[in-house]
This record gives sequence, structure tokens and C-alpha cells, in this order.
Amino acid sequence: MRSRRALLYMPGDNWKMIAKSVTLGVDSICMDMEDGAAVNKKAEARATIVKALQELDFGASEKLARINSVGSGWERDDIEAVLPFRPDGIVIPKVESCEQVEWASRIIEDAELKNGWQVNSLRILIGVETAKGILNLKEIAAHPRLDAVIFGGEDFAASIGATRTKEALELLYARQAVIVACAAHDLQALDIVTIDYKDADALKAESEFGARIGFVGKQIIHPNQVQIVQEAFTPSDEAIAYARRIVETFAASQKEGKGAYALDGKMIDMPLLRNAEKTLARAKAAGK
Ligand code: COA
Ligand code: MG
Repeated sequence: MRSRRALLYMPGDNWKMIAKSVTLGVDSICMDMEDGAAVNKKAEARATIVKALQELDFGASEKLARINSVGSGWERDDIEAVLPFRPDGIVIPKVESCEQVEWASRIIEDAELKNGWQVNSLRILIGVETAKGILNLKEIAAHPRLDAVIFGGEDFAASIGATRTKEALELLYARQAVIVACAAHDLQALDIVTIDYKDADALKAESEFGARIGFVGKQIIHPNQVQIVQEAFTPSDEAIAYARRIVETFAASQKEGKGAYALDGKMIDMPLLRNAEKTLARAKAAGK
């Protein structure tokens, strides 16, 4: 699975922002037809995204298109407009049931078969951002076309009637529900947007906290956020070196018949090895 440390949104009708996004070295670019595109700009967003998919070189960045939610009435026109120009994936917002993912997956599979693209190569990322979405995530997360679950903090707060705070304690349960479901189904968990895009310190702190609790990436909305977020979700040199030492010493201790052993005054056993392997996998995915 590709690395998605930062997923940058821009309104799909904003050519200037899309053209800029391909120069930023960001892991994922998400051209939006949903809430970032005004109601009277939906058609323009579809046409602009199509033009971008045809004309722009996205380099190593992933090219994603976010459709409107299944049931909004716009979703079919959205997905049918962009699919022929082969984005790397489709983002479905406000997912609340397995059927909604299956609806999109069928349409995508038809396009894959029709165009001779490898079946299942075009991925789905879902936005889970309502109370129902969190409750049903256990079933939804099992869908085989999924790569990632994106947690929408602002929408979720609105869904449960919570007041958003900087500490985001009101979101902790749902964020952890997303992390757990993703871990159980081998998916990537992507964290909330820091909407105060001028506050670099807050962004760094929120990114580092997200990484600590198990998110592998974060949604962003401004070019200034790319580097801070991608760094926060890349294991540090020290973390990588320590993980390597655990992997090496663990193998040696197993040979000696010891399941648990001491390293630098700390106990190391199987769960620490698993975590170390995850760190190394993340570092590798991030090109380190
Ligand atoms: N993607 C790519 N480029 C972006 C961008 C984005 N999300 N946001 C801003 N830029 C560009 C601007 O076009 C500008 O480019 P320029 O220097 O070439 O003129 C530069 O970055 C600086 O932008 P700035 O003036 O600081 O931002 P702004 O005041 O124009 O816009 C926002 C602020 C928040 C309105 C804007 O960043 C935005 O629309 N973000 C995306 C919102 C979105 O998609 N929401 C839905 C999903 S949550
Ligand atoms: Mg949302």
C-alpha cells in the first residue's frame, strides 16, 4: 500500500490550487467535488478534475477524486465523470454502510473491465464522519477494495453535537474507533484536518499526537501543512535505529531460547518486536 502521510484537499473547481498541488511533493492529492466545491460549482469541479487528470503530471503524488456522498444525488455524475480518466482512487465521504462502498466498487469494477485495467487496482478511501459511520465501521472496514479510512472531525462533531476544542478530547473515542477498525482490517487510518492552517505549532502537536495514537497520516488543506505533517508521520532516525536494534537483538535472544530480554534497561518481547517492525515498514514506505 502506498504511503499517505498527508492527503491534501482542494476544491475541484480550483485549477490554480490543483496545478500548485502537483509541485508540493505531497503524498496524496484529493480533488474535491463534495464540501470543498460550492453547490453551484459541482459541474465545473467535475470538468476541472477531468482536465487535471488529462493534462497534469502528478509525479509521485497520488491522484484522488472525492465524490459527493452516496445518496446526495450528485454521486453518480461525479464518479462517472472522473473514472474514465483513471484517478488512482476515489474518496467517498460520509460513509455509513457497506452498501455505499459496494455501490462505488461495482461501478469502478465495470470501468476496470471495460478499460482493461487490473481489477481492484483502483482503490477506495472512505470518509467516516458521522455517528452511524462509526457504529457500522466494523462491517464497512472489511470491504476488499478499501485502502484507508479518513476520519472527518468537523463533520463528526456536528453529527454528535459536540463543541470542537483545540485538545480535541471530544473526538478521541471516534478517532480510536477508526484506528482500531483499520488495524483489524489492515487499512490506513487518516486523521482530522487542523483547520487553523496558520498555526504551525498546533499542527505539529496535533500531527505528532495522531501518529502516537496510531494514525499513519492526516488530512491537510494548505500547502504550508505538507512538510510538517509528512515529517510527523515519518519515523525519526532515532526511532528507526532503535527499531533495527530490537529486530536484531530479538532474533539473537530467540536463538538463546529467551522470549523476553533486556535492552538498555528495558524489557523487550514479542509485542515490542511487532511495533518495531511496523516502524521499519512505515519508514520504508516513506522512502527512508
Ligand atoms: N491546495 C493547493 N494550493 C493551495 C491550497 C490547497 N489546498 N490552499 C492554498 N493554496 C495556494 C493558493 O492558491 C496560493 O497560491 P499562490 O501562492 O500560487 O497564489 C498559496 O497556496 C497560498 O494560499 P493562501 O493565500 O495562504 O490561502 P488562501 O487564503 O487563498 O486559502 C483556504 C485558504 C483555507 C481557503 C484554502 O487553503 C483552501 O481552500 N483549502 C482547501 C479547502 C478544502 O478543500 N476543503 C474541503 C476539504 S476539508
Ligand atoms: Mg467532511
